[in-house]
Amino acid sequence: MRAVFPGSFDPATQGHLDVARRAAEMFDEVVMCVLSNPKKTGRFPLAERLALLADLTGDLANVTVDSSPGRLLVDYCREAGIDVVVRGARTPADLEHELPMAQMNRHLSGIETLFVPTDPAHSYISSTIVTATAQR
Ligand code: PNS
Repeated sequence: MRAVFPGSFDPATQGHLDVARRAAEMFDEVVMCVLSNPKKTGRFPLAERLALLADLTGDLANVTVDSSPGRLLVDYCREAGIDVVVRGARTPADLEHELPMAQMNRHLSGIETLFVPTDPAHSYISSTIVTATAQR
């Protein structure tokens, strides 16, 4: 079974990598797909996000990298023949934000979302925090 792990990955973090590793143990293939989040303006160009993702996941044989900017996740899944979405959840606030999207995605196309609880070691890592500290 194939799964998609979608995100802005702007940039990808060790937290994303941990979720990808664990998903890769559960599925035959995991596609990390860069999509657009209308609430985020975008920091790194798409090409750089993809290059970093490919670099981070280089040792994971069944993890691939793709992008589908400006499209709905359900359309990407339909076209790619993928029925499961993987998302990491760090906090209850994450789940509160994610549940409506998961429910809408299932309503629109029947795809299920599997939430992978973040390892506590990565709970406070976010792309925003990584970017902010890297700029200092
Ligand atoms: O890393 P992020 O920013 O939390 O990822 C959010 C993302 C990109 C997965 C989400 O915004 C998304 O699925 N965008 C694609 C457009 C879409 O399908 N939106 C409707 C969700 S109900």
